[in-house]
Amino acid sequence: MIIRPDTEGDDEAIRQITEAAFAGQPYSSQTEARIIDRLRSEDALTLSLVAEEEGEIIGHIAFSPVTIAPFAVGWYGLGPVAVRPDRQGHGTGSALVRRGLDMLRKAGASGCVLAGDPAFYGRFGFRNEPALVYEGCAPQFFMALPLSGALVSGTVTYHPAFGAE
Ligand SMILES: CC(C)(COP(=O)(O)OP(=O)(O)OC[C@H]1O[C@@H](n2cnc3c(N)ncnc32)[C@H](O)[C@@H]1OP(=O)(O)O)[C@@H](O)C(=O)NCCC(=O)NCCS
Repeated sequence: MIIRPDTEGDDEAIRQITEAAFAGQPYSSQTEARIIDRLRSEDALTLSLVAEEEGEIIGHIAFSPVTIAPFAVGWYGLGPVAVRPDRQGHGTGSALVRRGLDMLRKAGASGCVLAGDPAFYGRFGFRNEPALVYEGCAPQFFMALPLSGALVSGTVTYHPAFGAE
């Protein structure tokens, strides 16, 4: 399995994997594939990595800029992340998260936030941070990981693509 930045022509596979992974999940808005498409078309897909196995894409992760008011720069939102249902539970999702964070860190990012399950994301160092407020999510599922420097406080806003319907 290799992890690489997406290239032209990967879009349809990313869409299919994202739709299949989120299908029927109670916490899903079923808009995740459209969010990725809109981030791409609005030049807000900071980092888009695919996991490839024997020439087939089996997973994908997206990172996009977030704003944290009153003032913080260099923070990104993780997600959506998806692994093809028949390949879940074999380390692909973790590898995508780790590689993405590593690349953000090397690029000088300040930190990363996400809305997700602490049982999964805690292993990468994400912690629930009450000082960071994201109105789209129950507080216990909103987490942050500083990548350089200190944790910041404030209100987090994702790219408008996350309001896609
Ligand atoms: C979440 C997801 C990307 C993880 O990818 P993966 O390749 O299955 O993950 P890994 O094999 O690296 O890690 C598996 C671990 O994650 C846990 N896990 C997988 N999906 C999880 C979920 N939705 N919530 C909490 N934990 C989850 C597994 O229980 C396992 O835990 P363990 O190592 O303690 O046994 C994948 O399961 C998926 O696509 N799920 C559907 C879409 C989704 O929920 N995306 C994330 C939204 S926040």
